[in-house]
Amino acid sequence: MCNEIRTPSRIWAQNAWEKLEPKLRAECERTGSDLPFIPIQGKYRDCMMPHGLWWWTNGFWPGLLWQAYHATGDEAYRTAAEGASARLRDTLNAPEKLDHDIGFLFQLSSVLQTQLTGDEAARRAALQAADMLAGRMNEKGGFLRAWNTSPWADDASGLMIIDCMMNLSLLFWAAKESGEAHYTAVAERHAETAAKCLLRPDGSCAHIAQFDPQTGDFLKALGGQGYGEGSAWSRGQGWALYGFALAYRHTGREHFLTAAKRSAHYCIAALQHSYWLPLRDFRAPAQPVKIDSGAGAVIACGLLELSEHVPELEKALYTDSALKLLQKCEAEFADYCPETDGILGCGATMYHDERLANAAIIYNDYYYTEAVLRLLGKDVFAW
Ligand code: GLY
Repeated sequence: MCNEIRTPSRIWAQNAWEKLEPKLRAECERTGSDLPFIPIQGKYRDCMMPHGLWWWTNGFWPGLLWQAYHATGDEAYRTAAEGASARLRDTLNAPEKLDHDIGFLFQLSSVLQTQLTGDEAARRAALQAADMLAGRMNEKGGFLRAWNTSPWADDASGLMIIDCMMNLSLLFWAAKESGEAHYTAVAERHAETAAKCLLRPDGSCAHIAQFDPQTGDFLKALGGQGYGEGSAWSRGQGWALYGFALAYRHTGREHFLTAAKRSAHYCIAALQHSYWLPLRDFRAPAQPVKIDSGAGAVIACGLLELSEHVPELEKALYTDSALKLLQKCEAEFADYCPETDGILGCGATMYHDERLANAAIIYNDYYYTEAVLRLLGKDVFAW
């Protein structure tokens, strides 16, 4: 007798996983514990850590490996994941090179390693990373400072960005792990400021907020990696949606659930308008059409997270929307061929940069895989 309901999303995800897993296995054999960014001519080989060990995307490969290990139990994934996670711990030897993205680096490597294997070195390093992240709090402004230097302002010390909502998970984890509530207090404070200064009344959000770093006064919102001021950089909309939903999961505060829903409804409306094509910015000129498949994968994960915190009717809205988006991404951008590296093509780093346009950037693949596994109930909860 069948003991599980074969929902459309589960049927799709099972099908996707059957194609995806052989590819991940082949990538794992080729890549091992190295830290890939994007494939060059179909191979990661020539694009390992092109921006150095401290680059914000380096956690996504160990994250993929830990997800694959959890889903399959295959020791080859674990061995590679342990090696990659250990390499990232070397970033702590030159902490001045780390910034707010320490969350992305450690959450998907040492935190997952702690969760899945109980490794003590990983746990200690992740707690140290959480201390460093918490230390970036601007007390007057109530935000975690983004970057150490930035092209967006002469003085980066007054900048906060929507991306950093995803880094808060490291603080929520550290609070549970250590029993120290101050990590949660820092994370909540940052999320409150993000809801106030980055999220707009229509549910869209700005990428960057600029504050006076001395007084903490909010000065203005900047366009950052999106089309421009007032636009809606799509990956940023995903960071907001997923980040606020996670803030609700970890704090139970309705304020964050409402913020996540507002983000979700903006994303769903924008994506219906583009027939589920994840444009790079939802408020940019209609031409040229610019895509960011990674934004699609992040938004899908955010919708799936949100679906876990709402009643049935809303659950269906968010799950069905995530499925439509994932199916579109698969149909348009997925490459499951085990001989090439990179799954979800057509990624982009920012609206106005064509150098990596159409690339299978490593974070596209992480979030796409997380979404597939989540629909199957085979993911390890990473955030
Ligand atoms: N730094 C995160 C992003 O580019 O989306």
